Amino acid sequence: MKIVVKQIGSLMLLTGVFAGSLFAYSQEDRIKDMRAMEEGTQQMQKGFLYNNLQDITQGAELLKKHAARIEPPVEKDADSFKRNYAYDVTKREAKKIISLAESAVKNYKEHRSKQAMNDFTKILKQCMTCHARIRKW
Ligand code: HEC
Repeated sequence: MKIVVKQIGSLMLLTGVFAGSLFAYSQEDRIKDMRAMEEGTQQMQKGFLYNNLQDITQGAELLKKHAARIEPPVEKDADSFKRNYAYDVTKREAKKIISLAESAVKNYKEHRSKQAMNDFTKILKQCMTCHARIRKW
């Protein structure tokens, strides 16, 4: 009995590893994260327009959560240089988005709404920068 349990355990582990490599970050995952980030920016914008800290904070949290997940699209036959470049750019952009979102919330909380708006504008710039670059990947 013990052996059977052990075998099932390792079989499940194997299946897990296999599934993990099969269902790596897909285009659907990326689109989901993109749409969630878009929602996050909308909510932040609403917060700025209606002077609502909760919307700014919630939007920033949504944005941060999904920015941390994004992975770039990389063609199957891309060489390691191209691949690394795509991942490096993505990581850098995501990091900027996360820190700008944090800065926007902090600035807004501390009544520096102009700087907070400025952070927000910079977030949108990061989105556009990546969208423009990606066409060359
Ligand atoms: C690392 C690069 C990168 C960054 C940064 C990035 N995007 Fe994207 N975005 C993409 C790619 C790639 C696609 C195309 C998705 C696909 O088809 O795989 C995309 C597509 C989208 C789409 C269309 C989704 C759909 O339904 O087709 C939206 C909306 C979007 N991004 C919003 C944003 C917002 C908002 C931000 C900034 C907060 C952002 N993106 C930042 C790479 C990026």
